[in-house]
Amino acid sequence: MKQIGLTVASLAISFLAAGPLHAQQLDPLALLKVTPASVPDHNCVICRPAPPLYNPRPDSPYPLALLPLPPANGPPVKNCTFCHGVSAQGLGVVPRLAGQRAAYIEKELGAFRNHSRDNPYSALYMWNAVPNLPPETARALADYFSREAPQAAADGNRALVDQGRALYQAGEPQANIVTCVVCHGPDAQGVGAIPRLAGLSYSYLKRRLEQWNQGYHQTAKPMPQVTRSLSASEIDALASYLSFLDDRAASR
Ligand code: HEC
Ligand code: HEC
Repeated sequence: MKQIGLTVASLAISFLAAGPLHAQQLDPLALLKVTPASVPDHNCVICRPAPPLYNPRPDSPYPLALLPLPPANGPPVKNCTFCHGVSAQGLGVVPRLAGQRAAYIEKELGAFRNHSRDNPYSALYMWNAVPNLPPETARALADYFSREAPQAAADGNRALVDQGRALYQAGEPQANIVTCVVCHGPDAQGVGAIPRLAGLSYSYLKRRLEQWNQGYHQTAKPMPQVTRSLSASEIDALASYLSFLDDRAASR
């Protein structure tokens, strides 16, 4: 047990030294498998509502325990970064929140609450994370994450970037594929409640685009209609292109 504790602690220190967590540095499924019972003093929204913030013992086996706590009066971000990764850059199956539009984050939190966003991972992880979130906390969290600087996941297939860019910018009128640029913007930075797509992870983008065609989240107008004409290889190309888009210089 002590050995495991030490290993986890040294892993955690190496993550801290390396900066934000990335999928390849930590098995996300292992993190998601951490059950409330196995985490001393764990205090995520799934287990019980909001503050006081999770305040681990020094010998906690939970790696994120070694991270600094956010300001005492700030939003309870640890309830989210627990899964979304340190600085909310995403972690494995869990998408990046950093730099996402505040209005979109708030809208999705509402969609998790009323179960209209019914994608399998949403039902598994997000439905339990939101019922105890008061609307003003949801807004504060949305605002907080939208202000964090996003980093591009850059994990798609580089060979498909040109095809993805062409589809994104111009669509394919003869195949009834609309251009994405008209809504998501020239740098895929989003606007209002239309989400930023630039630099989201390839696997997340691919999953989202596929799952509309599988019948999930049909309330997310107009995306169920938009994805209907996309083939598997076109989804691959779009997700690859977007994963490399680094829009830090673009307007927010
Ligand atoms: C137990 C793990 C877990 C926790 C805790 C968690 N999330 Fe999530 N979250 C996920 C997963 C997994 C998804 C992807 C759902 C999908 O694929 O549809 C997600 C998706 C989201 C999305 C949609 C992002 C997008 O681009 O559409 C938002 C917004 C979000 N979470 C916000 C939050 C906030 C705010 C908190 C803290 C209150 C939180 N999450 C806590 C696992 C988690
Ligand atoms: C007419 C406007 C419009 C067009 C055109 C459009 N989108 Fe969207 N897109 C939206 C809106 C609005 C949402 C948010 C839906 C919701 O969850 O309520 C969205 C959501 C998304 C998401 C989910 C992002 C996340 O964080 O989960 C992806 C991925 C996406 N769009 C990709 C595309 C691609 C690729 C194209 C081009 C083939 C495209 N969109 C064309 C308006 C549009």
